[in-house]
Amino acid sequence: MNAPWKSGGPNGRDQFAAYVCDEASLDVLRPLAIEMGWQPEKCNKGGLRNAVQSLAITASPNILMVDLSESGDPLNDINALAEVCEPGTVVIAVGQINDVRLYRDLIASGIHDYLLKPLQAAHVRDTLAQAQAVFTAPRSHESGVSKPHVSTAVIGTRGGVGASTLATSLAWLFSADNKLPTALLDLDIHFGTGALVLDLEPGRGLTDAIDNPSRIDGLFIERAMIRANDNLAILSAEAPISSPLMTDGSAFLQLEEEFRQAFEMTVIDLPRNMLINFPQLLADVNVIVLVTELTLASARDTIRMLSWLRANSPHARVVVVANKVQSGVAEISKADFEASIETRIQLSIPYDIKAASLAAKLGQTFADANRSTRAGGAIRELSRLILDEAGEVGDKGAAKPSLLGKFDLKAMMGKATKKETAA
Ligand SMILES: Nc1ncnc2c1ncn2[C@@H]1O[C@H](COP(=O)(O)OP(=O)(O)O)[C@@H](O)[C@H]1O
Ligand SMILES: [Mg+2]
Repeated sequence: MNAPWKSGGPNGRDQFAAYVCDEASLDVLRPLAIEMGWQPEKCNKGGLRNAVQSLAITASPNILMVDLSESGDPLNDINALAEVCEPGTVVIAVGQINDVRLYRDLIASGIHDYLLKPLQAAHVRDTLAQAQAVFTAPRSHESGVSKPHVSTAVIGTRGGVGASTLATSLAWLFSADNKLPTALLDLDIHFGTGALVLDLEPGRGLTDAIDNPSRIDGLFIERAMIRANDNLAILSAEAPISSPLMTDGSAFLQLEEEFRQAFEMTVIDLPRNMLINFPQLLADVNVIVLVTELTLASARDTIRMLSWLRANSPHARVVVVANKVQSGVAEISKADFEASIETRIQLSIPYDIKAASLAAKLGQTFADANRSTRAGGAIRELSRLILDEAGEVGDKGAAKPSLLGKFDLKAMMGKATKKETAA
């Protein structure tokens, strides 16, 4: 399921596609595509015309490379491409004409870069990495104004209660339904599922961050995070089981700090053992979702964790959520559970194995794959609760224009023209 290259992103978009006219360029490109973890068969033989034809009927890739060699009027043809290309695509042109004016005109029309043939592997590699960084860049970075930020930690009272299911679902709802730039930080370093549930590769970003906390800055997170939709960036890992976690936790604090600058929502999937080792992680968290099942062991650990949270994170709002609830077959009834933890369960999410299996099959988050079910509805209610808590009414968020608009070809056109005039 989580193959090194997948046929499409969560929105059916490929990460990369190329349309180049000659075999020599393809020979340079294919190994680089493999290196980047992309599908080599997306390197097509054909030029700009073929790109326009096929993008007219399929979803645009995140990064698109087009060969202008066979185009009589490259600038005009690029405009035809802009018509069929979806917003957000980063376009790299290649061609044989070594002319500064053409280069400047292409950049002004929103092209990310223009590479001269014959292609040099090292140069192409750098350009692809830059294009990747541009595509992954959190869009809110550009505005320069700091927005209110809400950080939510999702903690399971025991393994398997569904904390990761809720963390990924919440991140998806904030980003896709409310259009809020969202970061998902999956701190289950060895067994993280933040990327897996969306059928994405976790990459090395989080591992690199842990190894080199001093390198974490805005640019680092732009490059290291993987994009799940227009507003959602994920940092997750599958660290080798043979490598124990070696960190003082400073990387996680640094990441939280950067997320506050770059996103409006942070969701942290926080395994309970991480809470024990790095309690400082909760210092600036606004909402804590404590996920539990209605079992004896969960009741004991809910009591212990609530008491710890009261002492160590008094500023955060704690929401107790019972997951996998089956009417009539609970180990402990809801009433008894609430009596023993001396706190109300704010939200109950029904046990729904069909919903879990559908989400796994589709490679989507539980809440996204199951919108019309009671379980899906309950998770949406939880997301509204968190947004309300943040003084952010869900509708207000939804009405905001997509920040991705900034990155469409036409918008980039304006930006590049401004740069030109300034130069
Ligand atoms: N409400 C639910 N009904 C049925 N299965 C669920 C529900 N919530 C979660 N699951 C399933 O339970 C399993 C464990 O969930 P996960 O989120 O990984 O738990 P945790 O992160 O707390 O260890 C997953 O297979 C998930 O699909
Ligand atoms: Mg988990």
